[in-house]
Amino acid sequence: MTITIVGSGKVGAAVALNCGLRELDNIILLDVIEGLPQGEAMDINHQLSERGIDSKIKGSNSYEDMKNSDFIVLVAGMGRKPGMTRMDLLNKNASIVKDVATKISTHAKNATLIVVTNPLDPMTYVALKTTKFNKNKVIGMGGMLDLSRFKSFIHDASGCSRASIQAMVISEHGENMLPLIRFSSIGGIPISEFLSEEKSQEIFEKTKKVAAEVIALKGATVYAPGNAVATMIESMKKNKKEVIPVSAYLDGEYGISDLCIGVPVVLGSNGIEKIIELELNEFERKIFDLGVTSVREAINLINQK
Ligand code: 2OP
Repeated sequence: MTITIVGSGKVGAAVALNCGLRELDNIILLDVIEGLPQGEAMDINHQLSERGIDSKIKGSNSYEDMKNSDFIVLVAGMGRKPGMTRMDLLNKNASIVKDVATKISTHAKNATLIVVTNPLDPMTYVALKTTKFNKNKVIGMGGMLDLSRFKSFIHDASGCSRASIQAMVISEHGENMLPLIRFSSIGGIPISEFLSEEKSQEIFEKTKKVAAEVIALKGATVYAPGNAVATMIESMKKNKKEVIPVSAYLDGEYGISDLCIGVPVVLGSNGIEKIIELELNEFERKIFDLGVTSVREAINLINQK
C-alpha cells in the first residue's frame, strides 16, 4: 500500500510520522522544495528504525512518484498565520488545490484523496470537482481534528479518562463549527451527567477557538492534524468502519446538495461508506445552516474567478 503526502511542511511530516508509527507503509513525502521531503523522510525513518517499525518513508520532488498510490493526502498550500481565519486563505489555496488535484487525477486516478488544506470544506469541494473522483473517495480532514480538541476539553473538565470519552463535531471546519454536546458521552453516559450547562457551553466555545490560540502561540497546528489524518487512513486501510466526522460531499443528505461539509460518516475500504444523518435540534440546525451558507459563499467566490 502506498500513501503519498503532497506538501512536506510540518503537517505533512507529522502525517508521515503518524502513518509510519501505525505501520501504514509505504509513505512518499512529496514537495516542490528540493531537499525538504528527503530530509524529513530520513529523520522519520531514523525514528521508525529505532522503534523496530519497517514502514518506509521516501522523499520526492516528482509528482510522477504518486503513481499507483492508494491514498493521497493533500496538505499543500498556505497555512493559517496568527490572526487569520481559515477563509482568509481561500483564493491562494484554491489555485494550489486545483493545480495539485489536476496532477493527482493524471498520476493517481484510483487513489482515495484526503484533503487537509484550508479553508477545508471549500478545498475538499474544489478537489472533488477537479479530480472528478467518486464522491466517496474525496474526504476532508477537519471534524476529526475538531473532535480531538473537543475531547481534550471534556477530559479537562470532567477529570475522566480520555479513553472513556466519545464525542462528535460537525459542520464547517471554521467559524461555524458545531461541537455536539448532545451526542457526546463519557463511558456511554451523557455529558450532562458530568458537566453543568454552563461548563458545556464554555467547552463548546473553546473548541471553536482553540486552533487560533495554538497558532498564535506556536505558529501552526501540527501533531493533532497529523494524527487525525492517520486515524482516517487506518480506518480505510484496515476496513475498520470507524464513525468519524469528515468533510463529505452532500447529495441531499441533511437537505443539502452540491457542497462539502463536516458530517459523521462510516470510513471503510470504500472510503465514505455511509453518511450518518443526525436529527439536529433547532439550535444545532441553525449553526449547521450557517456553516452551509459560509461554505456555499466560499465556493461561489471560487467559481466566479
Ligand atoms: C486547525 O484547525 C489550522 O485548520 C487548522 O488546526
